[in-house]
Amino acid sequence: MSGARPRTLTGPSSRHPLGFYPAYRSDPLTLFYEQAVAHRGSVRLRLANQHVHLLVDPDHIDQVLVTGAAKYRKGISYQSLNHLLGPGLLTSGGELWKRQRALIKPVFGRRHVDAEIPLMVACGQRMLERLDARAAEGAPFDLVPEVMGFAADVVCRAVMGAEIDGILPQIEDDVRDGVDWVMRHMAAPIQLPPGLPTPANRRFRGVLARLHRVVDDVIAGNRDTEGEQAHSLLARLLAARDDAGHAMDDEQLRHEVLTFLLAGHETTGGALAWTVYELCRNPAVLARVRDEIDTTLSVTAIENALPALESTGRCVDEAMRLHPPAWAFSRTAIEPDSFDTFDLEPGAIVVISPFVNHRFPDFWESPLTFDPERFTRERARARPPFRYFPFGWGAHLCVGQHMALVEVRVGLAMLLSRYDIELVNGLRVRENPEISNTPDPVLVRLTRRQHAAPAEDSLAEAAR
Ligand code: HEM
Repeated sequence: MSGARPRTLTGPSSRHPLGFYPAYRSDPLTLFYEQAVAHRGSVRLRLANQHVHLLVDPDHIDQVLVTGAAKYRKGISYQSLNHLLGPGLLTSGGELWKRQRALIKPVFGRRHVDAEIPLMVACGQRMLERLDARAAEGAPFDLVPEVMGFAADVVCRAVMGAEIDGILPQIEDDVRDGVDWVMRHMAAPIQLPPGLPTPANRRFRGVLARLHRVVDDVIAGNRDTEGEQAHSLLARLLAARDDAGHAMDDEQLRHEVLTFLLAGHETTGGALAWTVYELCRNPAVLARVRDEIDTTLSVTAIENALPALESTGRCVDEAMRLHPPAWAFSRTAIEPDSFDTFDLEPGAIVVISPFVNHRFPDFWESPLTFDPERFTRERARARPPFRYFPFGWGAHLCVGQHMALVEVRVGLAMLLSRYDIELVNGLRVRENPEISNTPDPVLVRLTRRQHAAPAEDSLAEAAR
C-alpha cells in the first residue's frame, strides 16, 4: 500500500449535505440493510462529516475481528459509552483490556453461571407476581418493560448480590437515564465533551454520582466480607488474581460492575422479548416449545432441565437472528490495512452489523422467515462463519453469552408455563435500535393457563 493512492470502499453518494446521516438517525437498521443488499456486501456510507465502512463480506469481517484485529481498537460508539462506564471490559483496549479479560472471563464460566439459576428463577417469580396482577386485570399492556425488569433484577443481583434489595428501582432508573444520555451523545454529529455545563450534562453527572455511590458502597461491603464464601459475581471478581497475583482495585471494579449492569440488561431483556414476540406470531412453533417445556419440567428440576430444552433454545437463536439485540458494533483502524478491493487508513470507522448479516439474502434462504430449524445442531455446525454472530466474534466475544442464554430460557420457560399470551398489536412491532435493539412495544394480553402446568412446581422448587 505504501506510496500508492489508497483504494476506497465503494458506496452510494448522497446529495444531502449531511449524507446519509438523516436516514441513519431515523432508521439505521433499514439504511444499513438496504445499502448492503444494494451493494451485494460491504459498503461505504457518508454520515455527516465521517465515512462509515459497513463490512458485510465474511473475509472483511474476519480480517477486522480475527486475523488483523491488532490493527483496530473498539470504535466510536464505545467512546460515548466510556463516559458512562469508564474503561471497563466493554470500552477499554490494549493491555488493560487483556488483563481484565483474563480476570473476568472465568467469573462468567458455565459452572458459576449455572449456579445462578435459582437466583434467576427467583427473579422470574417476582416477574410472574407482577404479571399475575396484569392477567387478572385482563387489559392489554406492553410486555417489554416487564421482561426488562426481570433482566435488570437478574443482572443486578447476580453481579452485586442481595445488598441492593431496596435500591434496585433507583439503579434501574439511573442506568436507563445514563443510557439515554449516551444515545444522544453517540448520535450527535459533533460529540461535545460531557463537562460542558448543559442541563443534560448536569443531569448526567447526577446520574453518574448516584451510580458510583451505590456501586462503591456495594464494593466496600463486599471487601468487608472478603474471604467468606463468594456468591455474587462481584465477590468472585474481588477474589480474582492475575498471573502476577494482583487483584483489581476498587475503581476498576466500579467500571466493570457498571459495564455488566449495562451490557447484561437490555440485551438479554431484548432477546427474551423478541423470542416471546416471534413465538406469538408462530403458534405452531409455540405449541411445540410449550409442550417441550411442560414435558421436561414435569420430570426434571429447572437447574438440570435447560440442556433438554432444545426446541426452546433454537427459538431463542432464531429470534436473535432476526432481531439481534447487539445490532451493530464498531471498530476504528489504528494502522493502515489492506483488503481485496479497498484500503483503510488509520482513523477509518468500521461498523459490523449482526442485523445485516443475519438477514443478508446471499447467506440465508428466506431470510425474513422465522424458522428455528435453521439451528439444529447439524445445520448450525455446517454454517460458514459470519452468517450468525449475535454475541460478536474473536477476542471480544461476549463474556456474558452463556449467562444470557440461560437467563432467556429460564424467563421463557416461566412465562410459557404460566400464561397463554395473546399479541394484541397486530403482527408487526417496531425495531428500536438504541444501544441494543428492543421491540417497541409488544402489547399482549395474558391469561393464566387453565390447568396449572406441571412445570410450575419444578420452577417453584428451584427458587427455594
Ligand atoms: C442476549 C444478550 C447479549 C448480547 C446479544 C450480547 C452481545 C455482545 C456482543 C455482540 C459483544 C461484542 C462487542 C464487540 O465486539 O465490540 C459483547 C461483548 C460484551 N458483553 Fe455481551 N451480550 C449479551 C449479554 C451480556 C451479558 C449478560 C453480559 C454480562 C453480564 C455481557 C457483557 C459483555 C462484555 C463485558 C463484553 C465485552 C467483551 C470484550 O470486549 O472482551 N453481555 N456482547
